[in-house]
Amino acid sequence: MDLMKEVKEGLSSSPKYIPVSLRYDHQGSEYDEQCLHMEDFYHYRADVDLIKSCAKDVISQLCTPCKLFDIGCGNAKKSQFFLDELLQLQNTVEYAPVDISKDFLDEVCNALRHTYGDRLKIDPMADDFFRALSKIRSYRGNKALLWISGLQVFPKDMQLDILSKFFSALEGNGACMITADITQSREAIEKAYLNFDEENPCAKLYANGFHVLNRMFEANINVSQFKLEGRYVEDKDVSSASYLQVWMRSLCKQSYEIDKLGMTISFEEGEKLMLHGGNGLSHKYTISQLEYLFEKAHFRILKIWKNENSALLLCERKK
Ligand SMILES: C[S@@+](CC[C@H](N)C(=O)[O-])C[C@H]1O[C@@H](n2cnc3c(N)ncnc32)[C@H](O)[C@@H]1O
Repeated sequence: MDLMKEVKEGLSSSPKYIPVSLRYDHQGSEYDEQCLHMEDFYHYRADVDLIKSCAKDVISQLCTPCKLFDIGCGNAKKSQFFLDELLQLQNTVEYAPVDISKDFLDEVCNALRHTYGDRLKIDPMADDFFRALSKIRSYRGNKALLWISGLQVFPKDMQLDILSKFFSALEGNGACMITADITQSREAIEKAYLNFDEENPCAKLYANGFHVLNRMFEANINVSQFKLEGRYVEDKDVSSASYLQVWMRSLCKQSYEIDKLGMTISFEEGEKLMLHGGNGLSHKYTISQLEYLFEKAHFRILKIWKNENSALLLCERKK
């Protein structure tokens, strides 16, 4: 779906919402980067520790040589552990980083060129990953799809659909490596995700979707007339997952005409504008919940590596 359509749909829904992807412009990517270094933000460190310890084993299970597609690559720092291992097996590696944040992706590719020189053949895809996945599908060589810290971001009702797109993209010969947050401590989760101190980069990242909305669609929504709030919802049902909900609460009755979207949006005092579609974001899974979800998407899980907070699933299409 194109972004304008998605935004219009979100603002016409009940409750109103703005899509998660909207917050990732260059500034959003910088806030995301700053979140990673926050003391309480356990997830980045957990992913790095896990990937560092298992990258060699993971890569040894792939059919090589292969092209690595890195979906929502961000700063690609974690992906480099896989690139380093692939470069132990191949003279050169074809690497296709995919990210919606174009300027940030350009910077990341330049840094990678500097680090790896000619041994890394970079084929960047600055695109929404839904579009990128359909292009990846037609790639006929061996392919490995990497998706780090991406699945959990999306609403639960979209996750199966997204995994199905990964499934289609694997047509031909390939495997997927997908990480997920498996933290079960409410205290750790609330500290990491629900600190709404104005200076906290995670709070700034949540609010950034608002700024992008104002800039991209020439809206003039007054952010100071909203208050950032959220909650953590535990759901241990095997077909579900626990998640966070984050919203902006309107502090007064207010209304905005947004010509570029051809609509007027009005808020009652106390009304919530959700900062994601669907049930929520930043899902936290049990291993059984992940196995259930991947089974439903017709994946065969070849192996799971995990620590206290992160799991990495290596999977392929069921034959
Ligand atoms: C949570 S970050 C993960 C970054 C990186 N994989 C890591 O683990 O460090 C999510 C990344 O996905 C990108 N992203 C978000 N929505 C996207 C979309 N619809 N299509 C492509 N990339 C997207 C963001 O720009 C961001 O870099």
